[in-house]
Amino acid sequence: MNVKEIRHPLIRHKLGLMRRSDISTKNFRELAQEVAALLTYEATQDMAVETHTIQGWCGDVDVEKLSGKKVTVVPILRAGLGMLDGVLSLVPSAKVSVIGLARNEETLEADTYLEKLVGELNQRMALIIDPMLATGGSMVATIDMLKKAGARDIRALVLVAAPEGIQRVNDAHPDVQIYTASVDQRLNEHGYIIPGLGDAGDKIFGTK
Ligand code: PRP
Ligand code: URA
Repeated sequence: MNVKEIRHPLIRHKLGLMRRSDISTKNFRELAQEVAALLTYEATQDMAVETHTIQGWCGDVDVEKLSGKKVTVVPILRAGLGMLDGVLSLVPSAKVSVIGLARNEETLEADTYLEKLVGELNQRMALIIDPMLATGGSMVATIDMLKKAGARDIRALVLVAAPEGIQRVNDAHPDVQIYTASVDQRLNEHGYIIPGLGDAGDKIFGTK
């Protein structure tokens, strides 16, 4: 299964705080960005680097820099925006491709309302960000769009993942690695993750 649950103490602590029912919008937002940054660190461990020589304080010194085209971060609207600054804090030059999806709460299928992708996707690492991987419908639809546009190196960063969503992504796109702070227990009858975080979009935007 292509999922990596990052069980770092800082992530476990922060996610524990996010699960509180009385958390404020401010705290939920801040923690979502912090966990996103920690997941980014893990998901980019194998980024390509190249060596070059610079003028250092004591003469020439060989240093490394990232090579190739800039990463694209792909927030799935709306809730994915709640992780964007966290990712950009580590990869500040990344280009941002935006996918607008809303889950139909009756059918649980994802409806697309926006697709604004950067160019040369075939040469970029794509980091999809969305706090919740529930049924997996939104994630599979996003990966479908990215692949159709040429993306080849796609990774998904989610705060919480349900086993059902992981399975669905794995079945449709076994090449896509999922990085998550927690693989939770299951989905409830409304397609919400248990124990999960509740409605992440509402918590990040203060709606409801
Ligand atoms: C939530 C969440 C994911 C999706 C996950 O978004 O942010 O995008 O549901 O569910 P799935 O795995 O079953 O597709 P939602 O559609 O509620 O929209 P929002 O981000 O605008 O709140
Ligand atoms: N979307 C959310 O925001 N939370 C869930 O648990 C499932 C989908």
